[in-house]
Amino acid sequence: MKKKPATDAKLWAAVDHYIGERLVPPDAALEAALEANAAAGLPAIDVSPVQGKLLHVLALTKGARRILEIGTLGGYSTIWMARALPAGGRLVTLEAEPKHAKVARANLKRAGMSQKVEICVGPAAHSLALLVKKRAAPFDLIFIDADKENIPAYIGWALKLAKRGTLIVIDNVVREGAILNAASKDPDIQGVRAMFELLAAEPRLSAAAIQTVGTKKWDGLALAVVVGK
Ligand code: SAH
Ligand code: DHB
Ligand code: MG
Repeated sequence: MKKKPATDAKLWAAVDHYIGERLVPPDAALEAALEANAAAGLPAIDVSPVQGKLLHVLALTKGARRILEIGTLGGYSTIWMARALPAGGRLVTLEAEPKHAKVARANLKRAGMSQKVEICVGPAAHSLALLVKKRAAPFDLIFIDADKENIPAYIGWALKLAKRGTLIVIDNVVREGAILNAASKDPDIQGVRAMFELLAAEPRLSAAAIQTVGTKKWDGLALAVVVGK
């Protein structure tokens, strides 16, 4: 494969900034969240501002009243989605690391979203099993953004917690093209590849995936809608 010019990533970021300057108004709570994440030493792997806005727009499009997120980090994407909820709407977000959850809790409070958001601390598989056991009401939108190795398992849980029409969004499904490497020893890559096989074979889902470039370089999002239950 021909090596891409080094300027591409800079241009992608510049265009992302151009879009963000127009479609993402300055926002004290979101900016403070990113600052608090950095101060606490959290990895800067949140969705980008424009991706956050996209999640917000998708939640509005769905008229989502119940949102499930797998992978909270500092709650940056959580704030974007929670802000799309109507009065009485609820977002449940799952996070394995207590330290991340603590930072997220403060960020959500600053954003005025504490009342709408419940953070479940612990391995997502455990929290998901609990939600199913508790017979949690179905979610309208489910954002999968935690350990990539377990994406197929999370889609299985998501189906149990969904209804017809539920939109499932999965982050990081391209990884600068690394997903093409069938022999990869990286469990994250194998997780994403298994996800594509699952999406292809699962009759209850109709899915698309799109490659994205921007401040987070070259990656992609998968979108799957529940067409049967
Ligand atoms: N959605 C966030 C970014 C999430 S980063 C945003 O865009 O702002 C991925 C997060 O998933 C990390 O905080 C990591 O601790 C968490 N995570 C990883 N493995 C997990 C697991 N098994 N269960 C729950 N959370 C997990
Ligand atoms: C990375 C990016 C992500 O969006 C994520 O969820 C995990 C890791 C990364 O760039 O390494
Ligand atoms: Mg991600």
